[in-house]
Amino acid sequence: MFSKFFSAHVSGIDAELVEIETDIASMGLPSFNMVGLADASVRESRDRVRSALKNININVFAKPITINLAPADFKKDGTHFDLPVAVGLAHSGGFIKSQSKDTLFAGELSLDGKLRGVNGILPIVICAKKAGFKKIVIPFENADEAAIVSDIDIYPLKSLDEVLHMMDAPSAYSPYKIDVNSLFAKNSSYIEDFTEVKGQKTARRCAEIAAAGMHNLLMIGTPGSGKTMIARRLPGIMPDMSLEEAIETTKIHSVAGFVRSAKDLKCTRPFFAPHHTSSNISLIGGTSKTVPGQVSLATNGVLFLDELLEFNRSVLETLRQPLEDGEVTIARASKTVTYPAKFMLAAAANPCPCGYLGDKTKQCTCSSSQISKYRSRLYGPLMDRIDLHVEVQSVDISDLSSLDDGESSEKIRLRVQKAHNTQMKRCGKFNSRLTEKELKNYCKLDSQCAKIIETAARKYSLSARAYSKILKTSRTIADLEGSAEIMPKHLLESLQYRMMSD
Ligand SMILES: Nc1ncnc2c1ncn2[C@@H]1O[C@H](COP(=O)(O)OP(=O)(O)OP(=O)(O)O)[C@@H](O)[C@H]1O
Ligand SMILES: [Mg+2]
Ligand SMILES: [Zn+2]
Repeated sequence: MFSKFFSAHVSGIDAELVEIETDIASMGLPSFNMVGLADASVRESRDRVRSALKNININVFAKPITINLAPADFKKDGTHFDLPVAVGLAHSGGFIKSQSKDTLFAGELSLDGKLRGVNGILPIVICAKKAGFKKIVIPFENADEAAIVSDIDIYPLKSLDEVLHMMDAPSAYSPYKIDVNSLFAKNSSYIEDFTEVKGQKTARRCAEIAAAGMHNLLMIGTPGSGKTMIARRLPGIMPDMSLEEAIETTKIHSVAGFVRSAKDLKCTRPFFAPHHTSSNISLIGGTSKTVPGQVSLATNGVLFLDELLEFNRSVLETLRQPLEDGEVTIARASKTVTYPAKFMLAAAANPCPCGYLGDKTKQCTCSSSQISKYRSRLYGPLMDRIDLHVEVQSVDISDLSSLDDGESSEKIRLRVQKAHNTQMKRCGKFNSRLTEKELKNYCKLDSQCAKIIETAARKYSLSARAYSKILKTSRTIADLEGSAEIMPKHLLESLQYRMMSD
């Protein structure tokens, strides 16, 4: 008998509907064929499905079996096709009656028929909802991840046996629900706080501007000056994640296989600090399975490159595309995938090779040629893509104990949130992401401001990219102050955070 069930194929962070057609011929020699561009991971499902079905006494394997995954024009991978294939065979073999046309199925089977959690459930549930399905059956392990999506009934089950039972007795089961709002409230606190950062007026100010407009930030300072400390506290002063942002980031983590329970849902802004020995693949993404890298996992949060100049130049070069486009394309022989990569770049570096140039207590031991060589490396092509450059002076250890606690992250976030609301009302995005056209509309300069920036552009030979970054940062500074216009003081402050490089 011929049967048709539905599943989905994950590509990037989205999924496409796939029809699973199963046919068991009434005559012929036993065979088990899979057609419709199934890759090795899907073809392996034959063995799991066969064993899982046999273990619950469903034996349909004495006849010729054909499975077709449609449409056949793209390659399908993933182990989650096990469940719809097994359900299809159980139906074709006459072991269940329901065709469940309103239900989508996804899940891996173990040999004894248990359902195992899979990667990418969130995009699959979103696809099911968009395609108009009323229900989705998934492994129990993926329950919380799936339940973030509203307006579709989620049935997280533990075994194939249970799935087949539910199909013929649906009223015995009720959909799984979670309270997304309370989950958000529970999951949205940050451990580290800006109260712990003492002094550092300028660096704190730059961190606030960066957080408000999602601007990239470079901190240059001697060892122990607090650069890492400040960077780690950036997510905690950024505007609250919207549900849309949380879903976007969680989708990426889901595809990478990092989401298994409610605590893995990304309600807080992610922070990723790859080590300088990290490979291109771990940063950008890749391997034969095209998994997302840290630039994507940090989407809507912070990617922190500590000791910037220790990174391999080729690794830094690969950051240019995501920094420019907010996404990254990974091409492998098997397929090409695009993932979002919308992070705020925070970077830290020492001012010179020995680290102590300009330090009050320690003498720098570098020669002037070593320093200029170092600086030219520092201000290479990546620098143009960094909006704010700030020198971080170290606070004397003797002063640390006498200094008052810094302002709390919560207080800073209130100002940041206000500036963020203004940006969202204006054009629905962070200032750092304004296009050239939007820049013309929203960052208009009066004649006094125009004169200031023209003089600076001439004096420091600013590139076109640096020019627009200065305008965007000025817009954020004005927003933090609640000013509708960019005024000379906003522009001058923003210029102050660029001059080091030019
Ligand atoms: N402004 C500060 N307020 C409070 N503590 C500070 C401050 N600056 C530094 N410290 C203390 O010094 C430690 C080292 O700071 P941190 O690691 O952030 O420095 P760094 O600039 O990243 O140094 P490196 O260049 O060696 O990586 C912090 O963990 C903290 O205990
Ligand atoms: Mg550090
Ligand atoms: Zn030095």
